[in-house]
Amino acid sequence: MAVSSAGRPDRAAVLCGLGGWLPRHRVDNDELAARLDTDDAWIRTRTGIRSRHVAAPHEATSDLAVAAGRRALANSGTHSTDAVVVATTTPDRTCPATAPLVAARLGLAGVAAFDVGAVCTGFIYALAAGAGLITSGVADRVLVIGADVYSRIVDADDRQNAVVFGDGAGALVLRTGHAGEPGALGSFDLGSDGTHEDMITVAAGGSRLPAEASRTSRAERHFAMRGKEVFRHASSRMTQSARTVLDCSGLTADDVDRFVPHQANLRILRTVATDLGLPADRCATHVERAGNTCAASIPLALTDDHANQALRPGDRVLLTAFGGGLTWGSCLLTWPELPPAAEPARHEEESAP
Ligand code: UT7
Repeated sequence: MAVSSAGRPDRAAVLCGLGGWLPRHRVDNDELAARLDTDDAWIRTRTGIRSRHVAAPHEATSDLAVAAGRRALANSGTHSTDAVVVATTTPDRTCPATAPLVAARLGLAGVAAFDVGAVCTGFIYALAAGAGLITSGVADRVLVIGADVYSRIVDADDRQNAVVFGDGAGALVLRTGHAGEPGALGSFDLGSDGTHEDMITVAAGGSRLPAEASRTSRAERHFAMRGKEVFRHASSRMTQSARTVLDCSGLTADDVDRFVPHQANLRILRTVATDLGLPADRCATHVERAGNTCAASIPLALTDDHANQALRPGDRVLLTAFGGGLTWGSCLLTWPELPPAAEPARHEEESAP
């Protein structure tokens, strides 16, 4: 594929479609409390989560990504793209990347396709990559997907993490347009601090420590997070990143109509919104119904907000995320006119992917 940006100095990436997909099986807090040493009150008070969705044994990340991607393409009104970018921490396999398979299953033969790994900030990084492909003239249309199946890497007996994470996928379609039109992605802020790489980790399974059962412990083969420290870093880094991107655009929190942060924990979202000076009712809270869906959480929250008309054309939207790495990032956009979208947990109208 080759696309030239010659003569288009104001070329911008513009949001033109979105979709989300949550697995059919919904697990509420009481179901977890029946097999773990926990209870509904603890989970709701500490995280705000009431339920999450869990992939069936036969469902992998690509299955969820295809379902969300298909919905986003349908919402955008056309099936063509030049590139597919998949943000995920739970690829189908260590090798190859998941994006080429997703592209092939969506019928997008021959397009550029690659994965982005930035844990829970993955979607913002993937969005920046997708926008970069467009503004540099490499692509005219890009499908950006965030998809994760954390139920495969979280130990089901680990009460701290099993209650927090859920599975899901969300996707946005970007097209070429011009800066200033509704839907145009504005400033980005991206950052990382690898000195804290062990704060959120799956220790075994990479080149540092291969995941042979005889040489690794069960804990090393599963997701681990130092929850309290992560909570502090998440709150301060998301606030800082959001402020940076607002400053870059000459805006303040008063200019933000909808705040759609990574859905880590309701307490973190409330803390960040308060620190930014944003009223709680401007903040998306999809976490209550889906838990922390990692790279999928921002596009899922956007799709849910759009389906429920919490986002209106012309709204200025602030996206902010934080995740393992450590990584963080933010982006601003103005909400465009889009066709109605199905709620991510609705499946009646289609068969399983
Ligand atoms: O997405 C990337 C970024 N991720 C995040 O930002 C997540 C950030 N962290 C968090 O959301 C919270 O730290 C958690 C929800 C993971 C944990 O909540 P917390 O309020 O920080 O709890 P804690 O780890 O300080 O544990 C408090 C107590 C402990 O008991 P003791 O030592 O005080 O007796 C835990 O053992 O709560 C206990 N505990 C639980 N009790 C009931 C931990 N998990 C559970 C549970 N049910 N599920």
